[in-house]
Amino acid sequence: MTTPVWVNGELLDPAQATVSVFDHGLMVGDGVFETIKSVHGRTFALTRHLDRLKLSAQRMDLPEPDVEAIAEGVQACLAQAPDWPLGRIRVTYTSGPGPLGSDRGSEGTTAVVIVGEQKPFPVTGDVTVVPWPRNERGALAGVKSTSYGDNAKALAYAKQRGGGEAIFGNLAGDLCEGTGSNVFIVTEGRLVTPTLAAGCLAGVTRALVLEWCGAAEQDVPLSMLYEAEEAFLTSTTRDIQPIRLVDDTAMPVAPGPITAKAIQVFAERGAADIDP
Ligand SMILES: Cc1ncc(COP(=O)(O)O)c(C=O)c1O
Repeated sequence: MTTPVWVNGELLDPAQATVSVFDHGLMVGDGVFETIKSVHGRTFALTRHLDRLKLSAQRMDLPEPDVEAIAEGVQACLAQAPDWPLGRIRVTYTSGPGPLGSDRGSEGTTAVVIVGEQKPFPVTGDVTVVPWPRNERGALAGVKSTSYGDNAKALAYAKQRGGGEAIFGNLAGDLCEGTGSNVFIVTEGRLVTPTLAAGCLAGVTRALVLEWCGAAEQDVPLSMLYEAEEAFLTSTTRDIQPIRLVDDTAMPVAPGPITAKAIQVFAERGAADIDP
């Protein structure tokens, strides 16, 4: 069975699923996206992800995406997918075909849903701090835009150095986020995560950890990551991943007691409600 791809309302064989070479998402990264997890074919936190897709589109001044149609596309793809223990659903929404420069076209938007299997992340992760800052004052700060060139470059930099994720500071020199994850640290026994004003994405997992585990939103200097008592990453595909190593600095414990508790609470609450 080939898992189909959904393009603008049509379910297609992956080999036939194409978009225009003039698509502005391809041309200039003029689009937004979401990555949603599925567990044995059931989406997790779909409502929050579709809300964020709408918000990202709004922040980029794109027409509002038809999230009801996209949700149907997600279910239609999953219905024909194998029973993956863990799946990854990618929703991409762009301004559609456009001219060769930055002006937008008027032929209508492009929406694509692709589903695939997600292999679980390692139990702990090593991270590499990159030398390039997130711009917390930029037009796309906190937007899940398809302009992810910064992230692709940073992740390649981290992987060359043995890291599994790259960590950004911001222009203020504070801790910001990873290329596809938010960061939490434990300092003086308190669980802390950067504020959204630091320029990080409003991660769905971050929000759930704040609600379910309790943590302070507080900006801290990037250097505090190296001195943390515990640290972890959050993301849709990882849930909570303890950080073992920051560059060459080993965390005192991974997972430490606060991280272990957060992992347990997240697993319990996430299992009890698939659309929290
Ligand atoms: C830049 C960035 N930060 C944080 C996250 C984590 O967000 P979520 O928990 O919604 O997956 C992501 C998700 O991929 C991301 O791309």
